Amino acid sequence: MNFTEAKTLAEKYLMHAYNPYPLVLAEGKGAYLYDTEGKAYLDFLSGIAVNSLGYGHEGVLNAIFTQAAKLMHTSNFFYTEPTLRLAEKLSQLSGLEDGKVFFCNSGAEANETAFKLARLHGKGKGKNKVVACRGSFHGRTMGSLTLTGQSKYHDGFEPLVPNVVHTEFNNVEALAKDLTSDTCALFVECIQGEGGVVPATKEYLKKARELCDQLDILLVIDEVQTGVGRTGTFFAYEGFGVKPDIVTMAKALGGGLPIGAVIASGKAAVFTPGKHGTTFGGNAVAASAALAVLDQVANPEFLADVSAKAELLKSKIPMDHPLVKEVRGIGLMLGIVVTVPPGDVAARALELGLIVGTAGTNAVRLVPPLTVTAEEIQKAADLLVQSLNSFLK
Ligand SMILES: Cc1ncc(COP(=O)(O)O)c(C=O)c1O
Repeated sequence: MNFTEAKTLAEKYLMHAYNPYPLVLAEGKGAYLYDTEGKAYLDFLSGIAVNSLGYGHEGVLNAIFTQAAKLMHTSNFFYTEPTLRLAEKLSQLSGLEDGKVFFCNSGAEANETAFKLARLHGKGKGKNKVVACRGSFHGRTMGSLTLTGQSKYHDGFEPLVPNVVHTEFNNVEALAKDLTSDTCALFVECIQGEGGVVPATKEYLKKARELCDQLDILLVIDEVQTGVGRTGTFFAYEGFGVKPDIVTMAKALGGGLPIGAVIASGKAAVFTPGKHGTTFGGNAVAASAALAVLDQVANPEFLADVSAKAELLKSKIPMDHPLVKEVRGIGLMLGIVVTVPPGDVAARALELGLIVGTAGTNAVRLVPPLTVTAEEIQKAADLLVQSLNSFLK
């Protein structure tokens, strides 16, 4: 299918919720994608921080094929082994005390679930206010959308969910004012991804933990984008020396299949039968794919390698380029703040065979597969410079 055919079909049959680039993707291998005309693209966006092991990873494919042939889906009326093994692994990796897992299908749903846990936990204690950060992104369902601290996403969907307050990100004084005794939860990202790749300060997350402990507030860390090794530790919060009460995840967990998860410490895992549920949550094939992902990613050597590659990638970014203002981020999640529209840089890079994303209003976002090679990092840096240079007069 060429782009003209795709566009004709999309205009007739798809809701116009996205503005895709003028190409149709056909295949992927490693860090490369190929369109239906056979053109290759080095992918430094990874399906927005999803395909951490690249395309066509043998371990993930085998896990999917094997489980799909055995048993694809049942329902949550029954146990299946992959789901239980995955819950065990995630609970152990989280380091949360008596950590319990709820599986869902996306990041928005994971945050929606955490929102419900928070309200339920606060019930009977006069605590139903939820605090989230300005500039945050937590998803598009009504609860997650309300948590999202960017009004452009709210526009047209009001009234939103009541009693959600936004506090200034990385401002400890504001946090101390906004967290009050009627607050049941604080939602925070270790790095605001969609908000422009803006890391939290250690001081901020530590203060958040302290205040939450003092006021009996659940600290919910959204690791939907930062989790599963992206920052060089399995969860980004490990690098901040802070442990949440609840962690939400999705994106890279399923190696390309949709799966989300919420891990809550025993005291926050307050669901009882009937309080929450989803048909596909913990699907056996998605859980098997996730187990294969964890087999690779949850290894100290693999994670050390992510940090080494991140250093290499950072060192290749032309900090002194006249259009580059700043480079932000941790691990293989970087935002390059540029003085031209980042969408234009991404479009030019695409023409040159490099896929990058954008974040916030002024950042080009790099979230390559964690398996990216030194050679691919060099190539991406060269193409990025070429793309930036094309904007110089
Ligand atoms: C931090 C964060 N939370 C939640 C979401 C929403 O995830 P999903 O698109 O899977 O609903 C995203 C998506 O970009 C995200 O970056």
